[in-house]
Amino acid sequence: MAKISIKDVAKEAGVSLTTVSQILNKKSDRFSEKTVNKVVEAKKRLGYFPNKNAQQLRGNNIKSVGVLLPNLTNPFFSTMMQTMDSYKSDNVDLFFLTAKENEIEKGIIHLVERGVDGLVIAQMINNPSILNNYLNEHNIPYIVLDQSDDYGFTDIVRTDEKRGGKLAAEHLIEYGHTKLLIAQPYMLTSNMQARVDGFKQHCENYNLASPLVIETDLSKEGGFSIVDQIIESQVSAIFAMNDEMTIGIIRGLVNKGLNIPDDISIIGFDDIDIAKYLNPSLTTVAQPIEKISKASLSLITNKLQDSNEDGIHNINLANELIIRETTKKLNKYIKRSKK
Ligand code: RIB
Repeated sequence: MAKISIKDVAKEAGVSLTTVSQILNKKSDRFSEKTVNKVVEAKKRLGYFPNKNAQQLRGNNIKSVGVLLPNLTNPFFSTMMQTMDSYKSDNVDLFFLTAKENEIEKGIIHLVERGVDGLVIAQMINNPSILNNYLNEHNIPYIVLDQSDDYGFTDIVRTDEKRGGKLAAEHLIEYGHTKLLIAQPYMLTSNMQARVDGFKQHCENYNLASPLVIETDLSKEGGFSIVDQIIESQVSAIFAMNDEMTIGIIRGLVNKGLNIPDDISIIGFDDIDIAKYLNPSLTTVAQPIEKISKASLSLITNKLQDSNEDGIHNINLANELIIRETTKKLNKYIKRSKK
């Protein structure tokens, strides 16, 4: 079937091409309500969608930005998408895409070939300098965040991950826990490595034995699958690498008859939207998801508007400890002091 064109809409509505074009480009105040309705109805009847690429060729200043994320289901990333979508300006279109760990570059090339004007990359890049050259050659500005590392090529948005890990350790130690465990993904991206480093370093400062480490998938299922190992370890508190993993661990422990936080304390990371509604509500290290999203959007928008803008922006946002119901002071504990 032939693609419906703006000409078809004009014919169907019985008005000129210019009238349709102006009405569809938000200039309907120049026309009578009757004419506007005729055009809108004709557009609906025919199922017409403007071709953005053609619009751009005609000089319309709509910029399309591809956003590459590790997944779309974790509320950390869905909140990010929602925020970017809510705050983007009218002349920016966002296209969200996920790629498997070994196919990130492929995903990026796909977006470039589909004609995006810029990129926001939240995934770990395997060959950053090759990718940087490729994007420069194609004149595609990009910024990186979260799991993507800082190679000094472009703007980056991160949170103070190391301090986040320290906040988690500080809280558990303050509550008297000394037998600690870290639940971390098999694939420790550099941002999560920083969390672990911050946590371990703080334990060292308090002369505690190095926390046990259990590796699993960074997901609810991953957390759920390690509960037997956790119970066997006899630790009194867990630092899980994100809230999703925390949720899986809690469900697994509760299924085995344990009470959270009476039998074991757990702290997560992120503060996803449901964290405060769960029972027990999650103690966690909150990342400012909205701020991360707004900062990323504003950096890429600036780059698209002003291609001569130079200087690399490195934005580091603060994390915050949120104490809720999954952590508890040990009944009898000795207040520990720094070595
Ligand atoms: O929940 C997703 C996790 O992976 C977050 O902690 C985020 O920072 C990412 O790296």
